[in-house]
Order: sequence, then C-alpha cells, then structure tokens
Amino acid sequence: MVKGHQRMNELCTVILAAGQGTRMRSKLPKVLHPVAGLPMIAYVIEACRPLQAKRTLVIAGYQADRVREALAGETVEFVSQPDQRGTAHALLQAREALAGFNGDLLVVSGDTPLLTSQTLDGLLRLHRKTRALATVLTAEAPDPTGYGRVIRSATGELLRIVEELEATPQERQVHETNAGVYCFAAQAFFKALQAIRPSAVKGELYLPDAIALLRDRDGGVQAYRAPDPDEVRGVNTRAELAEVHRLLWRKAALRLLAEGVTLLDPERAYIGPLVRIGPDSILYPNVTLEGQTVIGEGTTIYSGCRIRDSTIGDDTVILDGCIIQESQIGDGCQVGPYAHLRPLAQLRQHAKVGNFVEVKKSVVGEGSKVPHLSYIGDTTIGERVNVGAGTITCNYDGFTKHQTVIEDDVFVGSNAILVAPVSVGRGAIIAAGSTITEDVPPDALALGRAQQVNKSGSAAVFRSKHRKG
Ligand code: UD1
Ligand code: MG
Repeated sequence: MVKGHQRMNELCTVILAAGQGTRMRSKLPKVLHPVAGLPMIAYVIEACRPLQAKRTLVIAGYQADRVREALAGETVEFVSQPDQRGTAHALLQAREALAGFNGDLLVVSGDTPLLTSQTLDGLLRLHRKTRALATVLTAEAPDPTGYGRVIRSATGELLRIVEELEATPQERQVHETNAGVYCFAAQAFFKALQAIRPSAVKGELYLPDAIALLRDRDGGVQAYRAPDPDEVRGVNTRAELAEVHRLLWRKAALRLLAEGVTLLDPERAYIGPLVRIGPDSILYPNVTLEGQTVIGEGTTIYSGCRIRDSTIGDDTVILDGCIIQESQIGDGCQVGPYAHLRPLAQLRQHAKVGNFVEVKKSVVGEGSKVPHLSYIGDTTIGERVNVGAGTITCNYDGFTKHQTVIEDDVFVGSNAILVAPVSVGRGAIIAAGSTITEDVPPDALALGRAQQVNKSGSAAVFRSKHRKG
C-alpha cells in the first residue's frame, strides 16, 4: 500500500525545447537565447530543480545538438522531436521514454525563464491535493495578447483552453492566460494525448487541448493561478526577450537595494539573478554583472564595466570600462580604467591593474602593480612587484604557451619584453626597454637593450643637410 502510494507521487519533468522560435527570426534555437548571460532554458531547469523530479526529459528538435551541448552539465535525458508539429506532438515523442510511468508529469515550456520554484511547487501541491488528472498554471495578464485563453463556465468551472488564433473576439477578451506549464497524471494524460486532433488553423497538435479532454474524466482538471503574471511570461519575440530582461534586471536591482547596495541608477543596472553583492558597495550606471559573480562589501564599480563569473573582494575599486571574466580579485585592489581581465586572472590583495592592461591566466601578487599598457599572460607575479608601462610577457611562440615567473620585489622598467619561458629572481631590476630572453638571478640588474651611442654635434649637422636637400 505504502509502496503504491509512493509511486503515485513520483515526479518526472518534461521541458519543451524543440521549437525553432520562428518569431525570434534567429538561427539560434529560441530556448538558447541568452537571458542575462545564461541560456533561457537554464532558468527553467533551475526553477524545476528544487522539485527533485526523478527524471527530467528535454524535448529537442530544431538544432537539437546545440541544445544538448548547452545542457551538457545537466542530468537530463533528451528526447528527439525532429519535425515540430506542436506542443502535444512534442509530448507524444516522450511517450516511449515514459512508458510504465504512473506518477505526476510536470510539463514546462523552455521559453518561460521567469518561472519560480515556489510557483511550480504550488501547482504541484494543488495537483496532488485535489488528485486532479491535469492542473494548468494560469495567470491574470493585464495584456493577454499572444497567449492561450482559459475558458471557464458561468460558474467559473475550467472548460478548455483556446489559442489566440482560434479564439472568438469574445474569447480574446479573457485575461486569464495559459502559462504553458502543467501537471498531469501520467497514465490518463498519455491516453488523452492520443485523442488530440490537429488544429484547424495551424495543423499543429496543441497540448492545451488535453485540458478539455480530461475535464470530464474522474479526477477532472484544476487551474493554479500564478501569483504574479510577469513570472509566466513566454518569450516568443525579441520584444518579449527585452521585456524579460527588463523584469529580471529590475528584480535583481530591488533585491540589491534592499540588501544595502547603492545603485546610482537602478534602471541602468544590468545584473543577473545569481549575482551577489555585499553591503556598502556602489555601482555606477551601466554596469553589467553576469553569471555567478560575487562582489564583496564596500567595493565600487564604475560605469561601462562588464563582469562575468568572477569574484571580487571588499573595498576594491573597478574603474570605468573594464571587462572581467572568470577572474578573482582580492580586497583593496584597483582595476582600470579600461582593463581586460580574461579567464583565470587572479589579483591578490591590494594589487593594481591599470589603464589598457590585459591579464590572462596569471597571478598578480599582493601589493603588486601593473599600472599601464601591458599584456600579462601565463605569468606568476609575486608580491610588491612593479611592472613598468608597456611591459609585455611574450607567452606564445606560435606553437605553445610558455610561463613567465616574476618573484617578489622585482622592478620591471617600462617597455620591457619578457620572452617566456623566463623567470626573474626576487629583488631583481629589469632596465627599461629590455628584451629579456634569459632567466634573471635574484637581485641582479638585467640590461637587455642595445648600447646607446651619442654623437656630439651631429644633430645640427643632420638638420643643415636636410634643409639643403
Ligand atoms: C504556448 C501555448 C499557449 C500558452 C503559451 C504560454 C500551445 C499550443 N500553446 O503557446 O496556450 O499561452 O505557450 O507561453 O501549446 N515546442 C516544441 N515542439 C513543438 C512546438 C513547440 O518542443 O512542436 C516548444 C517550444 O520550443 C517552446 C514551447 O514548446 O519552448 C512552447 O511553444 P511556443 O511555440 O512558444 O508556444 P506559444 O505559441 O508560446
Ligand atoms: Mg511560447
């Protein structure tokens, strides 16, 4: 008995992701369009995660390989829908994979990135409490344009869902919309699915038709109203994608303001939902923070910076126009203006990386400075090192990347060229303009430049020759 009951409550999730997204007018499958730096479908998977479904099936069709690739790290199964003949047709492809499954089926559209776990949980709870055969997520939309409408009887009983294209002018007046998210009792659902007929207008098989088919069966159908209609916005067009961004950014901005972060212009703070920022940090307008970015307390980020999947400590200043990716910046650092930290740049405490400096896969040690016009790649810089303006580490010989090591307390003069593999010992000095191809021992002064010749009086001779010419 107990065993049987448990099986009834098992959950499988199906995510619809096979469509091209014709209305996006894009080569990229719609569900892979980035929303604040992550593919749209990643948000849907994230929202489903806390429900701990036993299995998650993703229906892929249009450019299925790209969808698979984008979800490579996820524990999902892929079901193929090579020709996309509608949302019900998509589910038909999953029938075999779910044969014998007798639990609850959660069906979610891959184009609804603002959906929350709480709402999905509410939907599932109502579904289980009422033992319905189908429970549909609906919303009271101020503007229902484009959505399927929920048609109820005079007494409020859920009758069916009609697509906008097929709705009568009167039905189009309805503001209750279908969110494209459903719970089904799996066995009854797959039976009903077979009875769905192609739409007269589009010739597609519509999943929402399952509601009318299951309504008169034992158990019936239910509707669960999403608390916030914005949450169930579907993205079908670029305009809707822009709307979703606006909502997402606004939500993040309000959260951060409440958490003690200063946003000088919250309408111009482009912050992804996973970003964390400590109190007393200040963001100037037009800062973009994406992915899993974490920023400490009391840090200031000036305009025009884009930071992705990076960690920044406390009391650090990022001046205008910096690009920072997959990097780690310690406390009390200064970066920019116009610095480029590429993946695996690490700045230890109080390090400084200044104007027009590019750092890649390198460590800049505590208190060290690379203030102007440098490229630092595949390099380990110790503590209290000063790297002069225009210094370049030549890490690439056309075939392989090589390492540069600069130990503590080294002074590198301006415009030095360090040809890797090469190391500079602790306390050494590199003369400005040197090309360093051999290791420099600790405390040595390395001069790697042509001897200068001064010809006295020659400037005047040179000028007079030119004038005659
Ligand atoms: C759908 C609903 C509509 C609802 C809206 C909510 C249908 C017929 N209509 O309309 O009632 O208000 O969502 O956002 O379901 N897909 C496939 N295979 C297909 C067709 C679509 O996997 O053959 C996928 C798409 O990739 C997408 C999802 O299903 O992720 C929904 O398809 P879409 O074309 O966006 O449906 P809507 O017109 O938005
Ligand atoms: Mg849609």
